[in-house]
Amino acid sequence: MEMSSSCSQRLLALVVLFLVFLQCFVNGFDKVRGVNLGGWLVVERWIKPSLFDGIPNGDLLDGTQVQLMSVTLQKYVSAANGGGTNVTVDRDIPSWWETFKIWRVSENKFQFRCFGGQFLTSQSEGNIISATAETPTVSETYIVERNNTRVHIKLLSGIYLQATEENQLTADYVDELGWDDNAATFEMVIYANNLHGDYQLANGYGQDKAKEVLKKHRNTFVTAEDFSFLSQHGMNTVRIPVGWWIAEDPNPPAPFIAGTLDFLDRAFLWARIYNVRCIIDLHAAPGSQNGMEHSASRDGSVNWPLSQDYISQSLNVIEFLSARYANNPALLGIELLNEPSASSIPIDVLVSYYRSGYQIIRKYSSTVYVIVCQRIGNADPMELFQASIGDENVVVDVHYYNLFDAFFANLNPIQNIQFIYDSRRTQLQTLDSANGPLLFVGEWVNEWNVTNASQMQYQMFGRTQLEVYDIASFGWSYWTIKNEEKHWDFKWNVENKYLLLSNSMKNSVDKLHTIGPTILAIMLACRGSLYDGKTTI
Ligand SMILES: *[C@@H]1O[C@H](CO)[C@@H](O)[C@H](O)[C@H]1NC(C)=O
Ligand SMILES: *[C@@H]1O[C@H](CO)[C@@H](O)[C@H](O)[C@H]1NC(C)=O
Ligand SMILES: *[C@@H]1O[C@H](CO)[C@@H](O)[C@H](O)[C@H]1NC(C)=O
Ligand SMILES: *[C@@H]1O[C@H](CO)[C@@H](O)[C@H](O)[C@H]1NC(C)=O
Repeated sequence: MEMSSSCSQRLLALVVLFLVFLQCFVNGFDKVRGVNLGGWLVVERWIKPSLFDGIPNGDLLDGTQVQLMSVTLQKYVSAANGGGTNVTVDRDIPSWWETFKIWRVSENKFQFRCFGGQFLTSQSEGNIISATAETPTVSETYIVERNNTRVHIKLLSGIYLQATEENQLTADYVDELGWDDNAATFEMVIYANNLHGDYQLANGYGQDKAKEVLKKHRNTFVTAEDFSFLSQHGMNTVRIPVGWWIAEDPNPPAPFIAGTLDFLDRAFLWARIYNVRCIIDLHAAPGSQNGMEHSASRDGSVNWPLSQDYISQSLNVIEFLSARYANNPALLGIELLNEPSASSIPIDVLVSYYRSGYQIIRKYSSTVYVIVCQRIGNADPMELFQASIGDENVVVDVHYYNLFDAFFANLNPIQNIQFIYDSRRTQLQTLDSANGPLLFVGEWVNEWNVTNASQMQYQMFGRTQLEVYDIASFGWSYWTIKNEEKHWDFKWNVENKYLLLSNSMKNSVDKLHTIGPTILAIMLACRGSLYDGKTTI
């Protein structure tokens, strides 16, 4: 059967109308008002502590820093100069040379990494333990037996280490061994234990159990209902942290666990159903770009800038993600790297990576936003505005927390609010008017370093942030959708009315000029109830 020409014309008209409608919708996408899906495809224990509950010897995960004191000598084991020589047992007070980072081989087998990066090895002259191995193998692997804070450390051959009267550490203790004060017994101090990311979880549980734990977590932590919730509350975007190993699904290198790609696909599906856009954020880059658990660092080292391999591998991940999602209507942007460390990553290395990432994304799409994150630490956000990363649709992401810095430790509620209104607002206005990339507050939270603040104080803090961050030309996204710490939890904040979205969602930049001063006036009038007793302004 042939279609009549009038019918096909009508069909064509309908299609055109539909496209125009679509175009209007896309253009009508004013600004990002979004929420991060933190702790989902990249794990952070503090967001969901129970994930780590079942790990045996769970306080000895990769990157845990330990110090060892001989109970007979009452001296600490030391790798002088941070490594490169024979180990001694001669220090009264432990510092960096006496602190070792654990690489976990199994529940009770560990390697010890010195401050300078080398490993304690039994492959040396005599039976002396030295701090000279560049990479760990069997002769750098030790079995640790624990009894409360006391440990015995033995080689895989079964021979125990002991502290000699000459202050050396030797692998030659063969006698019967008890937990009394003997030369082979050490007090182990856990000095730092603050890395709990994907590496620690997967290597801590081992592959099989980790698969089970992560499958359940990924299936339940973020679901279609969350997208529905976000959509109902006026959120139009999700920023989704992913780890580099997503590009190697279904066979990512150990210890990483496959499956995140499937869930990212699901997120795109839900996004289309609930009319939400997605920003994919390379949150964990190979080698680690900031040494933190959310970069999936093994032991806190920042290796990403040290090797061109890690940088090319990161670009491959960007290529993989671009190829897969560039034509998906739910894709809004790709963020090339989350929170690179200012102290470890030179700006020229970063800018060169960002430029290459831009070119790669542009091979697949002329419109997808290319988002580049400001370095964390001591860096001027203007550095990326002047960097000529690309010509079209480049966005600079800044993260704003009134936390993690001594400056905020003693601010009362009014001072916190004033800081947002004065300092953050001024910075946003300056950056926005720099005639460069668009501006995005990609992470912020309705939490501060104020103890026992009232609901009203939180509401004002949240409202002020919403209004000020709305200045950013590209918009903002809250960190994070769900969190064991309820003040970080977007859903909790909204449901319990600690974060009042409604009015601010209708906000425009203009409105700020009327509302901002009003809020300040109310704040000043309410000084009595806002004042937390710490400081006056
Ligand atoms: C380490 O100890 C061995 C055995 O006592 C000795 O031969 C070697 O010279 C020592 N190395 C250093 C750097 O002190
Ligand atoms: C731990 O050490 C104490 C003595 O300090 C000993 O009585 C106990 O049996 C030891 N526990 C184990 C599991 O070896
Ligand atoms: C809050 O301030 C205290 C000092 O009063 C500081 O030790 C702590 O690290 C701060 N917390 C955060 C999350 O910034
Ligand atoms: C905060 O509230 C808790 C529970 O009501 C209370 O125990 C604590 O002393 C309060 N802290 C401060 C600094 O007021």
